[in-house]
Amino acid sequence: MNMPSSPPSLHTLKAVTRDDFPQTFAWGVATASFQIEGAARSDGRGPSIWDTFCAQPGNIADGSNGDVACNHYHLYQQDLDIMQRLGVEAYRFSMAWPRIQPDGVGAFNPKGLDFYERIIDGALARGIKPYATLFHWDLPQALQDGGGWNNRDVCQRFADYAHEVARRFGDRLSAIATHNEPWVMAFLGHEQGIFAPGIKSRKIAVQVAHHLLLSHGMALDAMRATGTRAQLGIVLNQSPIYPDTTAEADIDRARHDDGMIVRWYMDALLKGEYPADILDDLADAAPVVLPGDMAVIARPIDFIGINYYTRQLASAQGPYNPKERGLPVTDMDWEIYPLGITELLLRLHRDYKLPALYITENGAAFRDELVAGQVDDRDRVRYLQEHIAAVQLAIAQGVDVRGYFVWSLLDNFEWASGYAKRFGIVYVDYATQTRHPKRSAEWYRSFLVRG
Ligand code: FCB
Repeated sequence: MNMPSSPPSLHTLKAVTRDDFPQTFAWGVATASFQIEGAARSDGRGPSIWDTFCAQPGNIADGSNGDVACNHYHLYQQDLDIMQRLGVEAYRFSMAWPRIQPDGVGAFNPKGLDFYERIIDGALARGIKPYATLFHWDLPQALQDGGGWNNRDVCQRFADYAHEVARRFGDRLSAIATHNEPWVMAFLGHEQGIFAPGIKSRKIAVQVAHHLLLSHGMALDAMRATGTRAQLGIVLNQSPIYPDTTAEADIDRARHDDGMIVRWYMDALLKGEYPADILDDLADAAPVVLPGDMAVIARPIDFIGINYYTRQLASAQGPYNPKERGLPVTDMDWEIYPLGITELLLRLHRDYKLPALYITENGAAFRDELVAGQVDDRDRVRYLQEHIAAVQLAIAQGVDVRGYFVWSLLDNFEWASGYAKRFGIVYVDYATQTRHPKRSAEWYRSFLVRG
């Protein structure tokens, strides 16, 4: 298995300050369009697959949707001001494709483009570098009606959209990521069906996984053609995956899961091939790959963004619940395992010739309560401190990590969990749309301004 040669122990995690990181390290916060913007029908935005998915009873835990969310579409100035006050230097946000191109094809919507122009210029005016993501899961519904990501033609639609964004904003964006977590989009959206578009077919999911990567490569070509100097890359969910026990079946399960989540993406992007053992495992569900596809997928990239939340233990018995095992968990019931970030980064560094890395998401949901205008989220402060220390440990061992983005600036619409799970360092009182920076926001500010 891909265990790091000498796993660091928890005792090696010392508290760090930002002086322990490279001078140019980017410190930021992250959000995504559908989760915060609201204004779902304003200014010409077309419907997205998440609007459709939310409208079907039973899909979202609290029956909610993205119609209002954090009303960031109207309150963005205030949210940028909060970032500036916290001393944040980089802002990772996503653009809603259906706001920019309502049907996913044809005419671009000037009002949608203007909104992102205001975000970009507003961030820059506050000394904050904008990092855009083109696709954080809100596909125009019109494209889904034509087969969505299972239809190869959507790759060209995506490249056209990417071209327009790079042409318009490529002079001001620090970075443009094509996709956010294509594994999640493909498999939670098309195999498990618990995310939009709610399809349940392994074969479709695998084909979608291929088309997402293909569209990434095509979008890179389209964006490079504009001459943009923005760094271009992709954001992946990644975890170290270990066998739960030494039983052979668990070891094989870990190989498979690691192959689907880590090697599928890293091998394709950095070596131009899919892992042979996984193609074997998939058998009839293996994707249709046309000649030339893998070369497009493996176009040189400037960075890979890593979203890290937890590790995974693979068991032939199926998924396990870390809480039942007495492991520390967040409100998502995800195990709190800071050293997983170090282990993952060291393993990737060992196995691949990597471009620059960013931690594009890391954070936690806890049961925050607003008491007299304050949220005392000590658990989140500790989570962030430990994970930042774990990133530093990897950098100290030679991994080229260039930035870290807290997920998330604001409490927001947490997909199938709705609004009940709060990931923000800023509390959102949804009844009034007031923002209350939590203790973790104040901690991040003191970390960033050096104290
Ligand atoms: C990631 C998503 C992000 C957020 C966090 C908690 O998978 O990219 O939008 O929901 O999980």
